[in-house]
Amino acid sequence: MKIGILISGRGSNMMAIVDAVNSGEIPDSEVAVVVSDKADAAGLDKARERGVETVVIERKGRTREAHDAEIIAELQKRGVELVCLAGYMRLLSKDFIRAFENRIVNIHPSLLPAFPGLDAQKQAIEHGVKLSGCTVHFVDEKLDAGPIILQKAVEVRDDDTTETLSARILEQEHAAYVEAVKILAEGQACTLPPVVFCL
Ligand code: GRF
Repeated sequence: MKIGILISGRGSNMMAIVDAVNSGEIPDSEVAVVVSDKADAAGLDKARERGVETVVIERKGRTREAHDAEIIAELQKRGVELVCLAGYMRLLSKDFIRAFENRIVNIHPSLLPAFPGLDAQKQAIEHGVKLSGCTVHFVDEKLDAGPIILQKAVEVRDDDTTETLSARILEQEHAAYVEAVKILAEGQACTLPPVVFCL
């Protein structure tokens, strides 16, 4: 399975996936490209250090559609079959979602449908929940709302700050994303195409 990973920043989830592909934990797969919409994303060097090709495609005042069209072309020309959003901070256009229908997955740092959108860990602390976690899900046209592949829960402690909770969730994110991509690579969650969900 050829994987394309989209990042905007640190790239720790991207690294977890690349490392699991390279070690064979995610079988029969290759990370064909890491795309960033930010030239200064720290994850770019981390991808290159791991021998993965990187491409920077900045938005530069263009429409979302024009920006996405360039990203779609880069992914398609490498034969990408699964797109992993890993801290990619832009919403995808309808065209993007249609071009890779049921082949785009995202990780979100909460137990969806709780706390979609930005600052999910801060939202969890402010709401006073006792459990939070992370969710790997398919991406559809609604924000953080597509079918869930898997979730991992963590405890929220009384003395947690956004930072300490984020760190505890992030550890689980790396495990969850690897596990979810492995499920897809092994064809347990869907057949592509057409997609049949059979978790
Ligand atoms: C993660 O918390 C992820 O859930 C969210 O953005 C953060 C990205 O972190 N979507 P990283 O760039 O993968 O380190």
